[in-house]
Amino acid sequence: MPIALHERHPSFAAEIQGIDMRQPATPEVVSEIEAAIDRFPVLVFPEQHITDEQQVAFTRPFGELQVSTAARTGREQRLNAEMTDASNISAENRVLEAGDARRMNNLGSRRWHTDGSFNRVPVKYSLLSGRIVAEQGGETQLADMRAAYDSLPDNLKLTIEDLLAHHSLIHSRAVVGFAEASPDERTILATVSQRLVRRHPRTRRKSLYLSNHAAHIVGWPIPEGLDLLYDLMDRATQPAHVYTHKWRVGDLLMWDNRVTMHRARRHYPENTPRDMRRTSIMDVGNTVEQAA
Ligand SMILES: [Fe+2]
Repeated sequence: MPIALHERHPSFAAEIQGIDMRQPATPEVVSEIEAAIDRFPVLVFPEQHITDEQQVAFTRPFGELQVSTAARTGREQRLNAEMTDASNISAENRVLEAGDARRMNNLGSRRWHTDGSFNRVPVKYSLLSGRIVAEQGGETQLADMRAAYDSLPDNLKLTIEDLLAHHSLIHSRAVVGFAEASPDERTILATVSQRLVRRHPRTRRKSLYLSNHAAHIVGWPIPEGLDLLYDLMDRATQPAHVYTHKWRVGDLLMWDNRVTMHRARRHYPENTPRDMRRTSIMDVGNTVEQAA
């Protein structure tokens, strides 16, 4: 069955039909999806009722699979190391309670971010599978960072052209009130530098590279850098740049982290399960090594 794209947002989101994720992606499927995601950096694959093994096998041909941060830092986890657990469910299959460390950690995902920007080599593609979805709320919102960059005034574009930001998971956790980190985590999750403006290697379009993991601007006084980051964040997340995905069971959302940001919304009631499982493909290098 040939693939078909149906626009969900005029500039950057589309539904894609004709793909069966129960089979590993063939080289033809990889190149078709890469062409589609260059045009629409957010792709919705409906009716993909897949297992973890099928999700990993489908994702692997796109590049190097990410080992989850939980696995790298030795945190207790429910899923295998190639899956990032974005659920609110414990290893004992219970909904995590307020104050649970994994729940607090995942609350950071409710702030705008890009996946893995706190790693020297960040994540390129994220594939998020909706296994149990919330009845009310729990949407995923994504922002088009190419359109956000294009809409900046010229003088602001000039100001930020060559700036670097320090990104840190310890920082973004602290912002949501979760300050706990083991000595190992403080070592493994050391601050990294990323470009503030990137250029997509295939489309050559420029985009803003923002995240709640961005703690400050390299070489600037912290309040000045934070003021700039908050200003850019406000501009980038104006409604015109945002797609809101209301989940149905079996949806899989794939996005290009190089040119988008995302966040999860609260769901109600909070004590009901929401099971989201992510596989991720690593980028090829640190953004500072890539010319903007
Ligand atoms: Fe995320």
